[in-house]
Amino acid sequence: MPKAKILVTRKLPDDVENRLIDTFETILNPSDEIYSAEKLIQQSKNVDAILCAPGDQIGADLITQLPDRIGIISTFSVGYEHIDISAAHARGIAVTNTPGVLTDATADIALLLLLGAARRAYEGERMIREDKWTGWTPTQLMGIGLQGKRLGLLGMGRIGQAVADRAKAFGMEVHYHNRNKTDYDALYHETAEGLLQVSDFLSLHFPLTPETHHFLSAEKMALLPKGAVVINTARGPVIKDDDLIAALKSGQVAAAGLDVFEGEPDLHSDYRDLTNTFLLPHLGSATRETRNAMGFCAIDNLVAFFNNERPPNLVKV
Ligand code: DGY
Repeated sequence: MPKAKILVTRKLPDDVENRLIDTFETILNPSDEIYSAEKLIQQSKNVDAILCAPGDQIGADLITQLPDRIGIISTFSVGYEHIDISAAHARGIAVTNTPGVLTDATADIALLLLLGAARRAYEGERMIREDKWTGWTPTQLMGIGLQGKRLGLLGMGRIGQAVADRAKAFGMEVHYHNRNKTDYDALYHETAEGLLQVSDFLSLHFPLTPETHHFLSAEKMALLPKGAVVINTARGPVIKDDDLIAALKSGQVAAAGLDVFEGEPDLHSDYRDLTNTFLLPHLGSATRETRNAMGFCAIDNLVAFFNNERPPNLVKV
């Protein structure tokens, strides 16, 4: 039986590409060029599946132009807001993602952001690199301690819970709001507003949807205790950048740790200029182990599909 033909839109880790080559007829993207819609459509001719990633924009318009033989789009990510799921389903194309395997790596990054923002890591690093450190002083770069502080988690799925586990080890009191109360041992708030009011630290863990777009606005940040710390490892557009920047300038928000940005890799330049931000370039899942696991998960979804089995991580609307 001929092997299924897969278009891989981005350069993936070597072990993942090797497994793809062993399993399928594979078109790789060794230069990691980001395909325009036209190029993606052109590259998709004569393939049975697309293995894509968050930087690709697979909207309804593009999906309507894909060849009929494409049966599945497997994304190398847990997030899938870059794919128009309804448009794919309307064409009978299955969509899969990679949940679960990036939980720990992302939770680790959330804690790195939380510590980096609270303990003024950027200012400290810069002081040393710019050779401006004149020695220890009793009042230098005093930050915010974690012990006994309330961490508010918006979204209590796998990643939220893994962040909670880590935060407890730092002596934080964990609060959360989620569509549904979970069994996790933490203080549940019925409303997001209720959670915001007690969040000395706020960490965002919900997907980007039309409902969560620009969720964290000036109005919402006004509910936070003054001098709260905001952490985002979810998606950039869940925050209204102008409002967070104003809150960081006024001190309503003391510091922010951000791994994701609206319009990334272009980000609001004020984030760079402010010293009370700790910024990372979307590194949540960026460990060798996790990126391999994501790739293998994306492959498992394809293998199941082409074996006429139900892919383990089918995305539903
Ligand atoms: C995802 O999987 O959605 C991440 O943002 C990429 O690591």
